[in-house]
Amino acid sequence: MNETLQKIRQETLERLKAAKDESEIESLSVSVFGKSGSLTEILKSMGKLSKEERASVGQSVNAVKKELEKELNERKAEIAARMQELRFEREAIDVTEPGKIAQPEGHLHPMTQTYRAIRDALVGMGFTTYEGPEVEYDDYNFTKLNLPLDHPARDMQDTFYVNDRVVLRTHTSPLEARALLNLKPPFRLIMPGRVFRVDEVDASHSPVFMQMEGFVVDKNLTLADLKGTLLTFIHTVFGEDVKMRFRPSYFPFTEPSAEVDISCTLCGGKGCRLCKGTGWLEILGCGVTNPHELENCGLDPHEWKAIAFGVGVDRIASLKYGITDIRLEYENDARFLKQF
Ligand code: DAH
Repeated sequence: MNETLQKIRQETLERLKAAKDESEIESLSVSVFGKSGSLTEILKSMGKLSKEERASVGQSVNAVKKELEKELNERKAEIAARMQELRFEREAIDVTEPGKIAQPEGHLHPMTQTYRAIRDALVGMGFTTYEGPEVEYDDYNFTKLNLPLDHPARDMQDTFYVNDRVVLRTHTSPLEARALLNLKPPFRLIMPGRVFRVDEVDASHSPVFMQMEGFVVDKNLTLADLKGTLLTFIHTVFGEDVKMRFRPSYFPFTEPSAEVDISCTLCGGKGCRLCKGTGWLEILGCGVTNPHELENCGLDPHEWKAIAFGVGVDRIASLKYGITDIRLEYENDARFLKQF
């Protein structure tokens, strides 16, 4: 009997070693410990033994049983752990693996590209950006800028009124007043933003459009500083070959005032349909800030000078990219935007 027991032990240990999965272990367990398992059979046959034999055989059977149970459980746990490891390996996701379908890549809106080109040129000259609200006090939009209530030039811009004192800003110039009232000069500012005017939509008008104000306050500024600044920005945006000219003009907030033209980006100055045969394209308004504006905002115009310019960002983008209808710049049709 002892021999049989040792044989069972030996065999079971070997089969256990060779077992590859949980079901093999399960059937092994049944064949040893089951109702008619090999070890169970030995236990059953013990009734035939004498009392003494039974005691000693019983001890060895129990020892083998305990040992085999322990080995079985350990092997079972080992296999379960290995299985889980394999499953983890199989199901692992490599999050760094590139996707199979290339995602379409977006890019900046042509107007944003244009704005950033202007901004970068000016930041290179020491400008920083400054922003303010689209819903603005009439006082900042007009009065402080030397446009009192009865000033005829208020009619130059058709205004959306929110109430008697509040408007949708018609230009970015109210930011000049805000900067003068809130910042300590000297400073150089770029002030971008959306502006609003009562206009029917057509190829060259939109009730909402984007402007950018340039504003420099310092002690000894002249028209030459304004010209140098504008020429640098124009060359950065349109290239070194473009010419610039100042044409006298009128704005209430500047004295002297000028409008700036560049040589036509289409014909180079010979005269064509775009420049209506003149060879020049108007791109912005500018000037030396009117002393009244400085005074209205608490600055002594004998001590401080300022230069300013206001640009339509959509207009610059139109000229830079040859866009003939401003509506395209505000409608965000992907078929149009893809081209830039
Ligand atoms: N605010 C003017 C407009 O919207 C543009 C402008 C002209 C701004 C001359 C200026 C300036 O700062 O000096 O038409």
